[in-house]
Amino acid sequence: MYRYIGNKTKLLPHITERVRELIGDTGTVADIMAGTGSVSLELRKCGYKVIASDVMTYSYHHLVTNLQIGEYPQFTGLATCKVISSNSKIPYEDVLLYLNNLQAKHSFFYREFSPDGKPLNGCPARKYFTSSNAAKIDAIREQINEWVDKQCITAIEESLLKHTLIMAVNEVANISGTYGYFLSDFKKNACDTIALKPVEVYPKNYDGHTVRLGFAENLAGLITADLCYIDPPYMKRQYAANYHILETIARGDFPEAIGKSGLRDWWDQHSKLCTKTHGLQSFEKIMNEMHCNTFLVSYSEDGLFTLEQLKECFGKIGKVQVQLIDYNRFKSNDSKLPSKLKEYLISVERKT
Ligand SMILES: C[S@@+](CC[C@H](N)C(=O)[O-])C[C@H]1O[C@@H](n2cnc3c(N)ncnc32)[C@H](O)[C@@H]1O
Repeated sequence: MYRYIGNKTKLLPHITERVRELIGDTGTVADIMAGTGSVSLELRKCGYKVIASDVMTYSYHHLVTNLQIGEYPQFTGLATCKVISSNSKIPYEDVLLYLNNLQAKHSFFYREFSPDGKPLNGCPARKYFTSSNAAKIDAIREQINEWVDKQCITAIEESLLKHTLIMAVNEVANISGTYGYFLSDFKKNACDTIALKPVEVYPKNYDGHTVRLGFAENLAGLITADLCYIDPPYMKRQYAANYHILETIARGDFPEAIGKSGLRDWWDQHSKLCTKTHGLQSFEKIMNEMHCNTFLVSYSEDGLFTLEQLKECFGKIGKVQVQLIDYNRFKSNDSKLPSKLKEYLISVERKT
């Protein structure tokens, strides 16, 4: 499972059951803070049409993979560009084999994120990856970049490859839960050699879903849906800071790596929902502007806002109902927080 703050994989049965109670078995559901895409994929599996978005670029690639692929694409452009010799189609597995066997490259990830690197800002070498894994990541991501630039792969193929690379990177990252900082000593799985492995794709209901990149506050007015699922951040921790390395892989760029931790500048993806001062206004703007009469919001007992504050805010939009679910929280390995807490599923039905 993808270790992502707020990943709802364990709550999927509760979420889909509530969606079914609210709108029935069919319709369009928006998932506008979709993260890993676990909820979007489940909604697709249940037969809904999904409009999914998030402010993070890595999420965009997860969503395209989870929603818009029904079978592996054929990578015909790689044959045309004569990258891999074949008459026309190249199986996804062969593309991964090619990428796995590339000559390692001492480039950006090696320099900024590995113990043999020399960060440009003069900070001590960072240990997010072993040096050999960082050099492999460099080779793979720069190869994908080149294929994109030369138009040898389609947008869907790019998303599938980036999704696959991120899943492989998560397996060998030397971190405690998030990419906010690296561990001082290499843990066991970080010493494994990174390998791209085929990801599963769901074969049915792949038509008619929409994936977008952007702030929910800005996209809300463009969305028409029967129900909108909102799974906001519930703490001050910004996703852009905690998953900066995945964002760099998804964007394929070479940002300045700032400070000891090597964060990219993430201000353009700063979320108001992580702030006490603007969070409730964001909820109101989204609910007011979206063409949708039913909302379902996930929130946590230990979130920035109390249940009373949320009820007051959502009460301005419509009728509010709250369901409480016992939940094991996401914890970094070194976290001392209690592991049991209540998760809220709050439905809001617009006053007409
Ligand atoms: C709790 S996580 C969602 C987890 C997701 N349901 C899953 O199962 O993986 C919250 C997500 O909201 C996104 N986010 C935060 N503020 C946002 C905003 N204003 N607009 C859109 N996405 C936002 C974050 O990037 C993060 O992926």
